[in-house]
Amino acid sequence: MIKLGVCYYPEQWDPSIWAQDAQRMVETGISVVRIGEFAWSRIEPNSGEYHFEWLDQAIDTLAKAGLEIVLGTPTATPPKWLVDQFPEILPLDENGAVRGFGSRRHYCFSSKVYRVECKRIVSLLAQRYGNHPAVVAWQTDNEYGCHDTIFSYSVAAKVAFRQWCDEHYESIELLNVAWGNVFWSMEYQGFEEIELPTGAVTELNPAHQLAFWRFSSDQVVSFNKLQTEILRKHSPGRSLIHNYMGNFLSFDHFDVAKDLDIASWDSYPLGFLDRDANDPDELKKWYRTGHPDTAALHHDLYRAVGDGRWWVMEQQPGPVNWAPHNPSPLPGMVRLWGWEAIAHGAEVVSYFRWRQAPFAQEQNHAGLLLPDGAPDTGAIEVTQLSKELEPLQALLAQSTTKPAVAIVFDYIGNAVQDITSVAGANHRPYDYFAQIYSACRGCGIDVDIVGAHSELAGYKLIIVANQMIASDTLLAQLQNSDAQVLLMTGCGSRTEECAIPSSLAPGDFRSLINITINRSESLPECAQLPVSTANGNYIASTWRERIVTDLEPKGVFEDGWGFHYVQGKVHYLNAVLTKLSLQQFIRHRLDDADVAICDEIDGIRYRACGSVQFAFNYGPDTVTLSEQTDYLLGQARLVPGDVAAWSSDISAC
Ligand code: GAL
Repeated sequence: MIKLGVCYYPEQWDPSIWAQDAQRMVETGISVVRIGEFAWSRIEPNSGEYHFEWLDQAIDTLAKAGLEIVLGTPTATPPKWLVDQFPEILPLDENGAVRGFGSRRHYCFSSKVYRVECKRIVSLLAQRYGNHPAVVAWQTDNEYGCHDTIFSYSVAAKVAFRQWCDEHYESIELLNVAWGNVFWSMEYQGFEEIELPTGAVTELNPAHQLAFWRFSSDQVVSFNKLQTEILRKHSPGRSLIHNYMGNFLSFDHFDVAKDLDIASWDSYPLGFLDRDANDPDELKKWYRTGHPDTAALHHDLYRAVGDGRWWVMEQQPGPVNWAPHNPSPLPGMVRLWGWEAIAHGAEVVSYFRWRQAPFAQEQNHAGLLLPDGAPDTGAIEVTQLSKELEPLQALLAQSTTKPAVAIVFDYIGNAVQDITSVAGANHRPYDYFAQIYSACRGCGIDVDIVGAHSELAGYKLIIVANQMIASDTLLAQLQNSDAQVLLMTGCGSRTEECAIPSSLAPGDFRSLINITINRSESLPECAQLPVSTANGNYIASTWRERIVTDLEPKGVFEDGWGFHYVQGKVHYLNAVLTKLSLQQFIRHRLDDADVAICDEIDGIRYRACGSVQFAFNYGPDTVTLSEQTDYLLGQARLVPGDVAAWSSDISAC
C-alpha cells in the first residue's frame, strides 16, 4: 500500500483543534503523520522537568483518527537551557565563530556531552512511546547536514579528529607519509598536534581535507547509531528512518543508511532550482515546475541509499520560504510531484506541512492549509492524488522491471572531486553528475542510481560517474559483467589518501581498459574544444585528459590529444563535455548497449512502476501522447503540470 502523509506540529496549535485536524487529514487521504522532531523545549522545558502529557494527548488524538505516527527525535533543536548549561555543544564555523542559539541544528556532532543529552531524551521517548500501537516509525534527528552543519571546527571536533587519526593510522610517521606532509614542512610529531583543516594561509593539503571529510561523515554515522541502538531496543518492529535533504553531499549517506530501515528525503523542487541553478535560462524555464530531473534523480538516489525502501518525508506543498525567490508552483505540480515519487517507488509521500505557521521563521512557507485553516491549493491537489491513487494501488504493487541502465555514484568520489577539482574545475561536480542523469532520462529511460557496493547484475549499461578512488568490489563486478561500461573522467585518478596513483590514472581501472593518463588540464568555460568522431561532433569544456595507449581513439582534438577510448565493452571518456555533447554521447552509448530510447520531448519524463507506465509534463507545451492507449490516469492530451498513466505493456515511446 502506497500511503500519503503529512508533517504536523501539535505543539504549535491549540489542543482544541487537534482532533479536527486529525479528522481533516483523514478526509484529505492522509494516513501517516510525522510529529515531534523539533519539540524538545515542550517535552523538557528545564533540565529534568518533563512534560509528556501534551505529547501523550497528541499521539492518542492522532491515533484515534486512525493515523499512523512517525515520531521524530528532537535532537536537531537543543533547547536554550541545554545550550546555556553546556555551551560547548555549539558548533564553530571555519572562522572560529560560534554558530549559536536562535534557529536549529546548533550542535556539534563531536560534543560528548551533547551525545549524553541525546541518549537521555531519545531513551525517554523510546521507552514511553516505543510500543504505542500507532507509532509505526521513528525519524532520527532532522536533515543531517542542513544549513552546512556537518563540519564543525570546535575544540570537541579537534579532539575527536585527533583520536580518529590515531585510530586510522598506526603511527604519526605513517600519517605523515600517507598525507605527504613532508611537502611544505607540514609534518607532525604526534597526533595531539594535528590541526583541523581551516585557517591556513593558502591551499590545504587534499589528504588532510579528505581525512576530515571522512571523520565528519563517521561522526554523523555514530551520532545516528547512538539513537538507532536505543530505538531498536525500546521500540521493536518499528521502521527507523532519517530524512535526508536533496543536493546534500557532505557525508556518506550509504554509511548512515546501514543503521536504518528506510531512507527518506525532503523534496523541494522549486527551492532547489532557485537556490542551486547556475544557469539563468534553466531558472527562467523551470521556476514554476522545478527542473524535470531534480526530484527524479533524488528519488533514484535515495532508493539506492535505502536499499530499495524509501519515502519522501517532506514534499513541497506550495511556495517555500528559504530560496532566493519562492514562486507559486504551476497548478498541478503538487499532485505531479507526488505521482512522480510514487512512480519512482516511494512507499510514502508526506507533505510539509499540514498548516502554514503564521509566526516565526517559516511564515511564508505554504502548508496544505492556510494559517486560518482553510484548504490551500496543496490540500486540494493532495485530495485529488489520494482519490486517483486508490484504484491503482494493486497495479502499482506488481513487480517492476529493472531499468537497463545504472549510474554508479560515490559520495567520497564527489568529495574528492570537490577537493581536487578533478573532472571539471570551477563548477560543482554534482551538477555534472546531474547532467549525466538528465542525459539518460531525456532519452525516456528509467535509471537506477547505485553505489560501488551495489549488485550490478542485469544492467545493459553501467555508467561509473565519479569513482575517483577505485573500489575492489566495483571492479570485480565490472570485470564479470556483460554490460557496456562507461567510465567518466577522473575515475581511479586518486588513491585512498587523495594522491595520484603510482601507476598514474586511471589506477586500478586499468584492469578494465589499458590506458594511462599522462596529462590533465582544467579549462575555462570559454574554451570549447571541438572534436569529430564517426559518431558525431562533440565539444569538450572545463576538463580534458591526455591518454597514452595502444588503443585507437575515436576522435582526435586539433592539438593531437585523443578522445574517447574503447576496449571491448569498456569506454573511457577523457573529457568533460558540454551539456548537449554529453546528451549526444550518452545517446550513442545507450544505442550501443541496445537500450530502447525515445526522441526527447521538451519537459516530458517517463517512469514505469509496477505494471503502470507514467508520463509527466514539466514542459511549457501541451503534448499529445498516443491516442491508441487506454489511460489509467489522465488522457492523451497532457497539459503542462499534468500526469498520464497507462499499462506498462505499452512502451513509453
Ligand atoms: C526542511 C526542514 C523542515 C522545514 C522545511 C521548509 O529542510 O526539514 O523542517 O524547515 O525544510 O521547506
